[in-house]
Amino acid sequence: MDILQRRRHAALDFNNPGDHLTPAMQIRNEATSTLTEGANPTIAPFNTGLNGVNQPMNLLFRDTLWLSMGAVAIVVLGVRIIELSWAKLRLLSAMSIPGDRQHFWKVKQWSWMPGVKRNLIYAPLWNKRHNREIRLSSAINMGTLPSRLHSVLLALYLASNLAYMFILNWGNENKYSFLAELRGRSGTLAMVNMVPLIILAGRNNPLIGLLQVSFDTYNLLHRWMGRVVVFEVLLHLIAWAVVQVADNGWAGVKEKTLNDRFIGSGMVGTATLVLIMILSLSPIRHAFYETFLNTHIILAFVSFGATWVHCVTATIEGGLPQIPWIIGIFSVWIAERLARMFRLAYCNWSRARGTTTAFVEPMPGETCRVTLSLPRYVDVQPGTHAYLRFSGVRSWENHPFSIAWVEHTTEDELLPISEKDVGAGTSRSFSVKKPVATSVSFVIGAQSGFTRKLYDHAVAGTADLRRPGITIRAAFEGPYAGHHSLDSYGTAVLFCGATGITHQISYLRHLVEGYADGTVATRRVVLVWIVRDFESLEWIRPWMDAILRLPRRKEILHIKLFVTRPKNPREMASASRSVQMFPGRPNIPMLLAKEVHEQQGAMCVTVCGPGGLADDVRHAVRGCQRERGTVIDFVEESFTW
Ligand SMILES: Cc1cc2nc3c(=O)[nH]c(=O)nc-3n(C[C@H](O)[C@H](O)[C@H](O)COP(=O)(O)OP(=O)(O)OC[C@H]3O[C@@H](n4cnc5c(N)ncnc54)[C@H](O)[C@@H]3O)c2cc1C
Ligand SMILES: NC(=O)c1ccc[n+]([C@@H]2O[C@H](COP(=O)([O-])OP(=O)(O)OC[C@H]3O[C@@H](n4cnc5c(N)ncnc54)[C@H](OP(=O)(O)O)[C@@H]3O)[C@@H](O)[C@H]2O)c1
Repeated sequence: MDILQRRRHAALDFNNPGDHLTPAMQIRNEATSTLTEGANPTIAPFNTGLNGVNQPMNLLFRDTLWLSMGAVAIVVLGVRIIELSWAKLRLLSAMSIPGDRQHFWKVKQWSWMPGVKRNLIYAPLWNKRHNREIRLSSAINMGTLPSRLHSVLLALYLASNLAYMFILNWGNENKYSFLAELRGRSGTLAMVNMVPLIILAGRNNPLIGLLQVSFDTYNLLHRWMGRVVVFEVLLHLIAWAVVQVADNGWAGVKEKTLNDRFIGSGMVGTATLVLIMILSLSPIRHAFYETFLNTHIILAFVSFGATWVHCVTATIEGGLPQIPWIIGIFSVWIAERLARMFRLAYCNWSRARGTTTAFVEPMPGETCRVTLSLPRYVDVQPGTHAYLRFSGVRSWENHPFSIAWVEHTTEDELLPISEKDVGAGTSRSFSVKKPVATSVSFVIGAQSGFTRKLYDHAVAGTADLRRPGITIRAAFEGPYAGHHSLDSYGTAVLFCGATGITHQISYLRHLVEGYADGTVATRRVVLVWIVRDFESLEWIRPWMDAILRLPRRKEILHIKLFVTRPKNPREMASASRSVQMFPGRPNIPMLLAKEVHEQQGAMCVTVCGPGGLADDVRHAVRGCQRERGTVIDFVEESFTW
C-alpha cells in the first residue's frame, strides 16, 4: 500500500488509526507512550505526543485543503489564460480597423455572461455597498464588505475548515482521547493554513502576476485565513489544557508552561497570535495603521519562531511532522523581504548616477506633486503603483501611491555598423537612443500621518516662492500591479475622484499615443474626473497639457470634469467640446447609458477614488449588463486595508 492509500484507509478507521501508521509515525507514537508510563492511563497519555491523535486523517485533510486551494488557483489560471487569449485576439483583429467596424467585439459574448457579471463577478455582497467604508463615527472605521464572489470563496474556505476540524471520532468514550484527536486536528489545520497565510501576505507574492488577482484580494484572504488560524490555535490550546488540568490541575499547566520548552513555546505562539488578531480588528487597524503594521510584523515573527521551537522540542523522535512546513513558512517570508530589498537597491542606486532624489511641490488642496528621479531606467506600465520613502519624513514608513507620469532620459549610444568596426575606432557607427534614467511622478493627498508630514515638510522647506518645493532623498519600491490592459477595448470610460486621477492618467497617455501609433484597438476614451474645486486641476496641469498636445488626441479623448464645490462658478466654462466642465456630482447611470449608446467595440469601465464613487460606478455598470446587450467589463482600482 502506498502512503496516500494507507492514509485514506487509516483516516476512515477511527478505532485503530495506529494500524495504518507509517514506520516513522509508529516510532513517534511508541516514543511518546513510554514517556507517560505510570500516570493515569485514561488521562495522562492524551496531553502530549501523538497518543489519540488521528494523524492519518490529519494528513489527509492537509492534502485535501492544499489540493483544493491549488485547484482554485488552477481554475483561476485557466480563466485568466482564456481571458488574456481572448483580449489578445480582440486586440490583433481590432487594432487596425475603425471603431464603427468593431461591431463583432461590441456584441460578441455568451448569452449567460451579462447575468454572471451582474449577479456574481461584479456584484457586491448585497444591494450596492462594497468599498464604501462602514463608519460608526469619524474615528471608528469598520472596513468594507467583500464582493459576492469573494464571499462565496470565503464561505467555501470557512466551511471546509469547519468540516475538517470536526470530522472526529464522536463515539469515543474516553473524552481525553477525543480531546487529543481534536488537539492534533486543530494544530495540524492551523499549520496547514499558515502556509498560504504567509504566501498571500506579501506584495511580491508571485501569484499576483501569475493569476492576475490583485494584492487587495489576497489581503482579504490573508485576513480571513489569519482569523481561522487563531481560532484553530485556540482550540488546540484548549484541547490540551482540559486534559492537562484533569491530569495535574492548573498547577500542572503553570509548571509545564514555565519549565517545559515545548509547552512554553506553544503558549507564547498562541498568545502572540491572539494579540495579532486583537490588534488587527478593523477599527484599531484603520485608526493606527502604521503601529498596527509594525507590531503585526514583529508579533508574526515571534509567533513563527515560537511555533518552530514548539515543533522541534516535541517529545517525539525527530520533532513534530510539521517541521518542514514551518521551515517553508520562514523561507517564504524571508524570500519576500529579500525581494523588497532587491527592488529597493536596484531602483534607487546605480554606479553611474548615484541615488534617487525627489522634488516635492506643495499644491492647492493640501496635496503634493512629487517627482522622483531614479538613477536608472525602470520600465513602468500604466496602472502601476510604488511604495515611497522620504528622508526626514518618517523615513521608516513606506506608503503606496499610483504612478501618474513617467519620463525616460535617453543618451546617444554609438554602435558599430559591422563586426569589423568593433574597437577599430572608425567612424563607421550609428547612434541609438538608449534609456538610462527614469523620472516617475505622483500626486499625494495629505491625510493625517505620513502624507500630512510630507506636505508640511514641503511647505516649510520652500525657500524660493517662485518655484515652491523641496528636493530630498527618496526611495522607490516598485512598480507593482498594472496587469489590467485596456488596449483591446474599443471604448474606455475612466472614472476617478480627486487623487484617483493618478491611476487613470497613466492610461490616458498610453491609449492616446497607442491610437496615434496604431497599436491599440481603442477609438474612444472618456475621462470623468470629479474634484472638489477648480484648483485641483493644478495637480496634473503639466501632464494634461502634454496629453492635450498629443497627435490626433481630439479624435479619441473626451474629458468631463465635475467640480463639486466650485468657489467661483464663473470658472466653469468648458474649453472645447472634447474638454467639458460641469458643476456638482455626475449622474453616473445616465452618463454611462450615453456611453453605451455611443459604444465602439468592447467597452471597459474603470474607477479609482473614494469608495462611494466606486460603488456607484459598479452599480451603474451592473445596470448596463443586459442579455443581448453589449460587452461591458468593469475594473475597480481599490485597496482595502
Ligand atoms: C495602490 C494604492 C495607490 C494609492 N495611490 C494614491 C495616490 O496616488 N495618491 C494618494 O494621495 N493616495 C494614494 N493612495 C492612498 C495612500 O496610500 C494613503 O492615503 C496613505 O498611505 C496614507 O498615509 P498616512 O500615514 O498619511 O495615512 P493616515 O492619515 O494615517 O491614514 C489615512 C488612511 O490611509 C490608510 N493608510 C495608512 N497607511 C497606509 C498604507 N501604508 N497603505 C495604504 N493605506 C494606508 C489608513 O488606513 C487610513 O484609512 C493609494 C493607496 C493604494 C493602496
Ligand atoms: N490606486 C489607488 O488605489 C488610488 C490612487 C489614488 C487615490 N486613491 C484613493 O482615492 C481616494 C481619493 O479620495 P479623497 O478623499 O481625496 O476624495 P474626496 O475628496 O472625498 O472626493 C473627491 C471627489 O469625489 C466626489 N465624490 C465622492 N463620492 C462620490 C460619489 N459617490 N459620486 C460622485 N462623486 C463623488 C466628491 O464630491 P463631494 O465634494 O460632493 O463629496 C469630491 O468632489 C482616497 O481614498 C485615495 O486613497 C486610490
